[in-house]
Amino acid sequence: MSRKVFLVGDGAVGSTFANDLLQNCNVEELTICDVAKERPVGDSMDLEDITPFMGQTNIHPGEYSDAGDADVCVITAGVPRKPGETRLDLVAKNVKILKSIVKPVVDSGFKGVFVVSANPVDILTTLTQKLSGFPKNRVIGTGTSLDSMRLRVELAKKLNVPVAKVNSMVLGEHGDTSFENFDESLVDNKPLRDYAEINDDVLSEIETDVRKKGGKIIANKGATFYGVAMMLTQIVSAVLDNRSICLPLSAPINGEYGIKHDLYLGTPTVIDGNGISHVIEIKLSKAEQEKMLNSANKMQEVLDGVEL
Ligand code: LAC
Repeated sequence: MSRKVFLVGDGAVGSTFANDLLQNCNVEELTICDVAKERPVGDSMDLEDITPFMGQTNIHPGEYSDAGDADVCVITAGVPRKPGETRLDLVAKNVKILKSIVKPVVDSGFKGVFVVSANPVDILTTLTQKLSGFPKNRVIGTGTSLDSMRLRVELAKKLNVPVAKVNSMVLGEHGDTSFENFDESLVDNKPLRDYAEINDDVLSEIETDVRKKGGKIIANKGATFYGVAMMLTQIVSAVLDNRSICLPLSAPINGEYGIKHDLYLGTPTVIDGNGISHVIEIKLSKAEQEKMLNSANKMQEVLDGVEL
C-alpha cells in the first residue's frame, strides 16, 4: 500500500482530521482538495510544519484527478448544520455537493476505500456507494461511532468510572432516530442496568443529552469537529495499517435486524485494510429492534426523496 490519503473538504472537520491523522498514523502522501482553492494551499503549508516531529509525509493541495493512486478518499465536504438545524435538513444541498465529488474521484481511477463523514452521513454513505458503483465493503461512513463515544463519556461521568470501562453503543441513524443499546451495555463487565445509580429516567436523560450534544456544541462554538475527526482518524488508520477494529459505523445492511431496505446504517462493523470486513448483527431487545427498524424506515423515506 502506498499509504496515500485523498481528502475532499478542508473545512473544520477536514483540517482537524488531517492534523489528527498525521499525528496518529504514518501517511506517505496527503492530498487536500476543496472548492475554496486557497484553503488547501494554506493548510498544506501549515500542516507541513508539524512533520519534523513525525514520519516523512508529502502534503499538498490537489484536484480530483490526483485521487487515482490514493488508498483512501475521505469526504468531509458539505454544508454544516447551523444552530437549530437537523442533519436531515442538509440532504438537498449535500447530495448536490456529493454528486460533484464522487464521479470525478472515480474517473481519476481511484480504487481505494471511500470514508464519508459529511451529513446526513447514513444517506451520503449510501449514495457514495450508489454513485461510485464500488463494492459495498469499500464505502464506509462514520455512522454512530461519535454518538457512541459521547454515550461512553456520559455513562463514565454518571457512574464515576474510567471511560475505557464503558461498553455501550448508539446504533441506527447518526441523527434523531438513533438509539442506545442500554439492554446489552456493560460497565466494568457488569450489566449497566445492575448499577444502583441507573434507572429508566436516568437512561432517558442520558439518551437525550447524547442526542443533543452535537447541536449544543454547534450552538456554543458554531461547529463540531474534534470528535468526528478522531473517528475518521481511527477508521483511516485501521485501513492504512490493515488493522482489524470494530466500531459502530455506517455499514451496508444486508437483511440484518430484519431490515428490508438496501442502505447503510449504524451497526457494529469490523474494518481492516480492505474496508468493511463484516457487519456484526448484535442481538437487540425487542424494543431496541423496533428502534432499529424505525431508523431504517426513516432513512429509506429520505432516500426515496433523493434524485440522483
Ligand atoms: C456531530 C456531527 C459530526 O454529531 O454530526 O458532531
